[in-house]
Amino acid sequence: MPKPKVFVTRLIPEAGLKKVREACDADVWSEPLPPSADELRKRVAGCDGLLSLLTERIDGALLDSAPRLKVVSNYAVGFNNIDVPAATERGICVGNTPGVLTDATADMAFSLLISAARRIVESQKYAEQGHWKTWEPLGHIGQDLVGRTIGIVGMGRIGFAMAKRCHGGWGMKVLYHDLHPNATAEKELSATRVDLDRLLAESDFISVHTDLNDTTRGMFNTATFKKMKPTAVFVNTARGPLVVEPDLVEALQQGTIFAAGLDVTDPEPPRTDNPLLRLPNCIVAPHIASATVSSRNAMAEIAADNLIAGVTGQPLRAWVNPEVAARRK
Ligand code: GLV
Ligand code: GLV
Repeated sequence: MPKPKVFVTRLIPEAGLKKVREACDADVWSEPLPPSADELRKRVAGCDGLLSLLTERIDGALLDSAPRLKVVSNYAVGFNNIDVPAATERGICVGNTPGVLTDATADMAFSLLISAARRIVESQKYAEQGHWKTWEPLGHIGQDLVGRTIGIVGMGRIGFAMAKRCHGGWGMKVLYHDLHPNATAEKELSATRVDLDRLLAESDFISVHTDLNDTTRGMFNTATFKKMKPTAVFVNTARGPLVVEPDLVEALQQGTIFAAGLDVTDPEPPRTDNPLLRLPNCIVAPHIASATVSSRNAMAEIAADNLIAGVTGQPLRAWVNPEVAARRK
């Protein structure tokens, strides 16, 4: 039997790539930048499996150009880059990489929170640019963290891990907004589930951990920023389009809120003239939350296992659309 044919859209850690190469006839895109939409369509046309990144848009038209395709294995926990209903309709499995980047992402959210609250990046530039002339009693004053209130929007695994750091390490009170109550967060972190307006009004810091979909897109905008405290720090490690960026720029420029820490933007990468990159009270990181050794290795293994399960007719290890089981190709 010939090995199944797969396309891998970027070099991923060897922990996963090795498995893929052993089990499949793998075409691996080794350029630093993603394949163009055209190139992707060509490469995937004769494939049984696709291992994609969040930079690739996987829609019905692309799936139609790959009649043999059985699985799309996303090297990410988020899958808003994939039209999942379109895949399900076509009998195609979709996989993702949950669980293994929870701590890395919560660490990133906390780093952005403390860095933005204590103006660390701005201060580093100040020192670098030679403005440090003396110790300044009135300079560089930021926000206290201990005993404040953290508002978590989306109390899933990552939201919980962020809340745990804030509550356990910094004694913060935890408010959260989610469609579903989280009994563990309420019991272990004394978290209180509230509506979004109350969360915005009462939180000192707001950290977003929700997925991107039609109901969450643009949920942070002028109206929501205006409901936050002027001392609020806003942290987004989830997805850029949850935020209306020009509204965030205005809120930061006008002092509607104190600062923001972002690991995601809309689009990615941001245009070089995006004002968020220049505002002293905004930190922008290039979507690096899962970039730790163990997270990226584990993501590569899960993505490889999902891909191989998909092309061999096995259940996926992390299956976004298990309802496809009865009709899979
Ligand atoms: C990264 O953003 C991911 O979804 O894994
Ligand atoms: C997502 O919530 C994860 O834990 O990976």
